[in-house]
Amino acid sequence: MEILVTGGAGFIGSAVVRRAIADGHQVVNLDALTYAACLENVASVSQDANYAFEQADIRDRAALDRIFAAHVPDLVMHLAAESHVDRSIDGPGDFIETNITGTFNMLEAARKYWQEAGRPTAFRFHHISTDEVYGSLPAYPSVQFTEETAYDPRSPYSASKAASDHLVRAWAETYGLPVVLTNCSNNYGPFHFPEKLVPVVILNALAGKALPIYGDGSNVRDWRSMLRTMPTRCSWCCKRACWGAAIISAVRMNVPIWSWCRRSVTFSM
Ligand SMILES: NC(=O)c1ccc[n+]([C@@H]2O[C@H](COP(=O)([O-])OP(=O)(O)OC[C@H]3O[C@@H](n4cnc5c(N)ncnc54)[C@H](O)[C@@H]3O)[C@@H](O)[C@H]2O)c1
Repeated sequence: MEILVTGGAGFIGSAVVRRAIADGHQVVNLDALTYAACLENVASVSQDANYAFEQADIRDRAALDRIFAAHVPDLVMHLAAESHVDRSIDGPGDFIETNITGTFNMLEAARKYWQEAGRPTAFRFHHISTDEVYGSLPAYPSVQFTEETAYDPRSPYSASKAASDHLVRAWAETYGLPVVLTNCSNNYGPFHFPEKLVPVVILNALAGKALPIYGDGSNVRDWRSMLRTMPTRCSWCCKRACWGAAIISAVRMNVPIWSWCRRSVTFSM
C-alpha cells in the first residue's frame, strides 16, 4: 500500500512511518520541518527503498497537488499540525493556519485526487485528532469521553483541531470523501519533543528542578504509550473502519496530573 503521511518527522508521525515501512508499505513522508520536526526520528528507515521524503507545507495547496499526483497514495494519514497547547496560547495564528487552513488544503487536494482517480472505494483519508476537542473531564474515573461527547475545546490548539474535525466530517458528508477520524488521548514514548509534559517532568526530576504543574494538578489526563498503541491503532483504524467513522482511540487510565507527576518522579529517581 502507498501511504502519504503528513507530519512524519514529528513525534507520532515518525512512529507511523517507521511502523509502515516495517510492515512493507511504501511511504511518502510530507513534512514542513518546523521546530517540532526531527529527521533523526526516521533515520532508521530513510534509506529504505520504500521511503520517500517531501519537504512541503500543508498550507501550500499547489505543493500538495503535485505530491498527490507524483505518489498516487492509497491512504492518507494526516498528522501534520501545530500541537503544543502552551504555544497555541502564546501565538494562536500558526495553529489556525496549519491546523484549519492546512487541513482544508489537504481535504481539497485529496478530494481532487480521489475524484480524478474515479473515486476508488478503498481510498481512505485518516485525520488524526485529539480527545482535547471534548474539553476537560471531571474527577476520575467516573466519566469518560465517547464518540457522542459534545465538542467543547478549551484552548486555541483544541479549538483549531475541533475545527479541522468539522471540516473532515463535512467533506465526508458533502463530497463522500472516505474519511476516518480518530480522537486520541495523550501519547508518550521515544522521540517525544522535550517541551511536552512527560519529558519536561522527567528531565526536571532528573535535574532536581521544580515540576511545572498547572493549577492544583487536578486536571485529568489519559496517557498512552505511543510506541505500543498509536501505529497499531492507526493501522487498525484504516483496515477495519468504514469510511466516515469517528473513533475514540484510547480513553482509559485517566489520572490527575499531580498523580502522574508523582509517579514520574518515582520512576526517574
Ligand atoms: N502527541 C499527542 O499526545 C497527541 C495526542 C492526540 C492527538 N495528537 C495529534 O497527532 C498529530 C501528531 O502529533 P505529534 O505530537 O506527533 O506532533 P509534533 O508536533 O511532534 O509533530 C508535528 C509534525 O508536523 C509538522 N508540521 C507542522 N506544521 C506543518 C505544516 N504547516 N506543513 C507540514 N508539516 C507541518 C512538523 O514539522 C512536525 O514534524 C497532531 O495532529 C496532533 O494533534 C497528538
